[in-house]
Amino acid sequence: MDFSLNEEQKLIQEAARDFAQTELLAEVIERDDAQRFPTEEIKKLGELGFLGMMVDPKYGGSGLDTLSYVIAMEEISKIDASTSVVMSVNNSLVCWGLEKFGSEAQKEKYLTKLTTGEHIGAFCLSEPEAGSDATSQKTTAIDMGDHYIVNGTKNWITNGGTASTYIVIAQTDKDKKHRGINALIIEKGAPGFEIGPKENKLGIRGSDTHSLIFNDVKVPKENRIGEDGFGFKFAMKTLAGGRIGIAAQALGIAAGAYELALKYSKERKAFGTEISNHQAIAFKLADMHTEIQAARLLVYQSAIDKDNGNDYDLSGAMAKLYASKVAMETTVEAVQIHGGNGFVKDYHVERLMRDAKITQIYEGTSEIQKIVISRSILK
Ligand code: CAA
Ligand code: FAD
Repeated sequence: MDFSLNEEQKLIQEAARDFAQTELLAEVIERDDAQRFPTEEIKKLGELGFLGMMVDPKYGGSGLDTLSYVIAMEEISKIDASTSVVMSVNNSLVCWGLEKFGSEAQKEKYLTKLTTGEHIGAFCLSEPEAGSDATSQKTTAIDMGDHYIVNGTKNWITNGGTASTYIVIAQTDKDKKHRGINALIIEKGAPGFEIGPKENKLGIRGSDTHSLIFNDVKVPKENRIGEDGFGFKFAMKTLAGGRIGIAAQALGIAAGAYELALKYSKERKAFGTEISNHQAIAFKLADMHTEIQAARLLVYQSAIDKDNGNDYDLSGAMAKLYASKVAMETTVEAVQIHGGNGFVKDYHVERLMRDAKITQIYEGTSEIQKIVISRSILK
């Protein structure tokens, strides 16, 4: 498999790196502290074409491949994972699913605004009693002929307060179990749709996570994505690609922490020499570098599988499982290499360590990735 980047992909990488340095770095610590959503930064990402990267230009997208998307995700995540999760949800969970499975009218009405950043999207699958066990949906969408009536609660929804367009998964026919689930587009402001309080989180604190409450919300039938009963398959197919984006986020967090640790190890002196001259530190850097490159190859492979029309359920799950483990381990070691400085906010690595943890939880925990991987290799 050829992992070399073409000229266009190199330009995307450079643009994302530049954006992260010039637009994200300066206030990233303050946004994390204040749990402030990167409103202006997201607007600029939209102008750059980074919110609908894989969407056809006829819907306002950039028409790029998945590899370009993961390269951009890696660069943005090196500096600010709170911003990259907004980008990831909008690109892979909302825009991709709508373009692939939505009707022409839905694409015209919603996708064209989501690709440019005029609107932000949210993907609403998880519930208080349906996280990993995603088929146990309690939110209902009762079929009333020309519309559905939606009732229930979603939790942990990224972009929960800032989104305008919500893709909501809900049970229509309980007897049909997961084959009776639908995916509906619900607009902010729909009567009966309430946004719960913002979560106070360990990491990705600049991102906006809320529960959502639906009380007799009327949703027109034309807002259903795909055929009746397609909602769970829609969620699974969409998440398979989403996991590649989160794997790229984990890779970026790891690579960002490694770059900081490498630089610090060449500047900080102890026992009369730079700490990089102590083998204990040099070997940590060697392990970090090796594991990050291994993670990168898995992430690229899953993106290339998707671009080539190959199955990517397995490679995407492997990429997410491994890259998130590398993110956690690398960020802990980066804090260690920084000594006491690693424990304070100014040096960035403590934030990267806190941000790394979520990559082992959302879009399917590491245990769920192992279920997907083992089922695939054992079938
Ligand atoms: N593509 C298409 N269909 C799929 C599929 C895939 N990748 N994976 C499963 N399905 C289908 C199955 O074929 C089956 O349908 P049929 O019976 O019609 O064939 C149906 O889905 C149910 O599959 P399973 O019997 O395998 O279901 P299960 O109950 O054993 O669960 C699971 C499977 C993989 C564990 C799934 O529940 C899962 O992925 N759980 C994790 C949920 C998750 O990832 N949530 C993320 C929320 S979004 C988020 O987190 C965003 C963010 O943070 C930023
Ligand atoms: P549970 O499912 O209760 O799992 C608890 C533990 O048990 C985990 O370690 C899990 O791996 C393990 N476990 C469960 N079942 C099994 C099993 N069969 N075998 C082995 N181990 C198992 N969801 C959305 O829909 N949209 C979003 O935008 C979104 N954003 C999120 C943002 C944040 C910051 C967070 C924290 C979560 C977000 N989520 C979102 C929800 C996320 O996807 C879930 O938290 C995740 O899928 C796990 O579900 P749970 O929290 O209910 O944990």
